[in-house]
Amino acid sequence: MKIDVLTIFPEFFEQVFDFGIIRRAKLAGIVEINVHDIRSYAVDKHKMVDDRPFGGGDGMVLKPEPIFAAIENLTGTSDRDAYPSGTRVVMLTPQGKRFGQRIAAELADDIEHIVLICGRYEGVDERVNEALVTDEISIGDYVLSGGEPAAVVVVDSIVRLLPEALGSDTSAENDSFSDGLLDCPHYTRPAEFRGMNVPDVLLSGNHAEIEKWRFRKALEKTRAIRPDLIKDENGECEQ
Ligand code: ADE
Repeated sequence: MKIDVLTIFPEFFEQVFDFGIIRRAKLAGIVEINVHDIRSYAVDKHKMVDDRPFGGGDGMVLKPEPIFAAIENLTGTSDRDAYPSGTRVVMLTPQGKRFGQRIAAELADDIEHIVLICGRYEGVDERVNEALVTDEISIGDYVLSGGEPAAVVVVDSIVRLLPEALGSDTSAENDSFSDGLLDCPHYTRPAEFRGMNVPDVLLSGNHAEIEKWRFRKALEKTRAIRPDLIKDENGECEQ
């Protein structure tokens, strides 16, 4: 998979993709991640990337020209219907579709090239959305100063789902949300710590019982903390 990030703050990403699973996936050639400075595509002599909104109002709007030039350079076209198959151009914005494990899995499974555009200020010229963007994504109902932290969230959650990115195939399958439930509790040595004991079943060596316990705990935890995730037999949420 190839991921390109368009931002006016490339320094923001200087180290963020150089740790843990993402670093390993990059080194193993599973993913290639490139960060591009939108300003380097600016056409005027002042390298302007934003301007005042038509119609008045506060703040600045990201200009279309540099973003169009960047997308043309990365995909070969500025017509979203003509992108090579397996290409998505994603705008990170609080106005987007809510991101979650389902969308992460969909992108990890089907897509070879993702371009993430980090929005900024009061917004991005709407012609970018009309002509270039295939998906508008929000990571939650809160407003960030820009799309950069959201891009990190999206990249991390996708890369860990790519085949071979994790050490063992089952790790991602056991993650919270992959089966619609929160994850079960985990323990490691020592078996007794400051008077607190690891549940006996986990020390029993009985794998069938351990699996049952883990499922029960995941269900209990989900009921207590995220009842909205639990669906009844009709697919309706309990809450
Ligand atoms: N940019 C600003 N807020 C955002 C959010 N909640 N999700 C994605 N991008 C954003």
